Amino acid sequence: MEFQLSEEHLMIQKAARDFAQNDCLPGVIERDEKQQFPREQVMKLAELGFMGMMVDPAYGGAGMDTVSYVLAMEEISKVDASTSVCMSVNNSLVCWGLETFGSEEQKLKYLTPLAQGRKDGELYIGAFLLSEPEAGSDATSQRTTAEDMGDHYLLNGTKNWITNGSSASVYLVIAQTDASKGSRGINAFIVEKSWAGVTVAAKENKLGIRGSDTHTILFNDVKVPKENRIGADGFGFTFAMKTLSGGRIGIASQALGIASGAYELALAYSKQRKAFGKEIMHHQAIQFKLADMATRIEAARLLCLKAAWEKDHKMDYTLSSSMAKVFASETAMWTTTEAVQIHGGYGFVKEYHVERLMRDAKITQIYEGTSEVQRIVISRSILK
Ligand code: CAA
Repeated sequence: MEFQLSEEHLMIQKAARDFAQNDCLPGVIERDEKQQFPREQVMKLAELGFMGMMVDPAYGGAGMDTVSYVLAMEEISKVDASTSVCMSVNNSLVCWGLETFGSEEQKLKYLTPLAQGRKDGELYIGAFLLSEPEAGSDATSQRTTAEDMGDHYLLNGTKNWITNGSSASVYLVIAQTDASKGSRGINAFIVEKSWAGVTVAAKENKLGIRGSDTHTILFNDVKVPKENRIGADGFGFTFAMKTLSGGRIGIASQALGIASGAYELALAYSKQRKAFGKEIMHHQAIQFKLADMATRIEAARLLCLKAAWEKDHKMDYTLSSSMAKVFASETAMWTTTEAVQIHGGYGFVKEYHVERLMRDAKITQIYEGTSEVQRIVISRSILK
């Protein structure tokens, strides 16, 4: 067993840390307040090769491993979880699904610019459209329909909570093609935002990750060419589940980063803030909080890295990615709350960053499968 990171991993980690400090930290509070999409930051991520980190260079990617992805996600999420979620969705939900299950034509047409994060010099990213007003955790209850019209499908319905909803150019849309077949009557389609009948509707005003753009997307008689279906007929639900298993490694790493960012701020603050005649780090009440934070964060990191390692070794990582996600997201919520507590009143104001990290932490327990859904996946796996 090897716990040491390679030279290459350390270089990627440093590149992500430098990017977070130099490109994300300036303006992060204002972007959160104004709900401003981090366009410049995502363009820079594309330059760094971080929008298609794990994609084969033959399709425009950086050819890195999943361990590198976890390291980069942690560093960026320490500072700016709104930027890191755009990166996570594009890498794990969009590029991975297309590279693994897409046809050669789909890869050349869509994956290559998506992995590069740009096309003709403009931002070019993707979104994953599974959730609906009445199909969240119960993802098989899809109401969006794609009717087979012979040479094309006709797409109708509503998707919501869509990360990158307005900034994405390409949507991977999950829709029902045959209600009588249940989860086997679901397909996944590549849909371009610019097509007739696609409407980017309401933008959500959110508690956290306020810089990322979350929208409702409407489809009204959208003609989807047959060649834009991903995989064999009826493969859509399996496509969504397999894609989400990798996505959960990304969100677990985001949660890990939010937790470690809050911990680092609380540690630094405890060394300079004095109370009762000494720096607060000398009080056992603070020391025990810091000790628990450090321990939980290390456990979350190991779970994330194990899931990534299994994915890199072509093993089944469904169980470990759910374990990583539930544990890291609960660690993020607990750690950020304690970091605010350590900061006292200063923790409650924006300049100290921990209140934002606490708000950002909450969504990691909800999106890409709630903590309850992760426990369903885990218990089914251990009980089968
Ligand atoms: N890999 C492959 N196949 C899988 C699978 C997996 N991980 N999980 C399930 N399947 C297959 C099953 O084998 C089954 O196939 P058969 O019918 O052929 O046997 C089929 O899919 C249906 O599975 P279940 O019977 O297990 O389905 P279920 O209704 O009990 O639901 C669930 C299971 C785990 C709760 C699932 O619905 C789920 O994961 N829900 C949460 C959805 C989710 O994560 N949404 C997040 C939205 S995306 C997002 O947040 C993105 C963003 O923008 C940030």
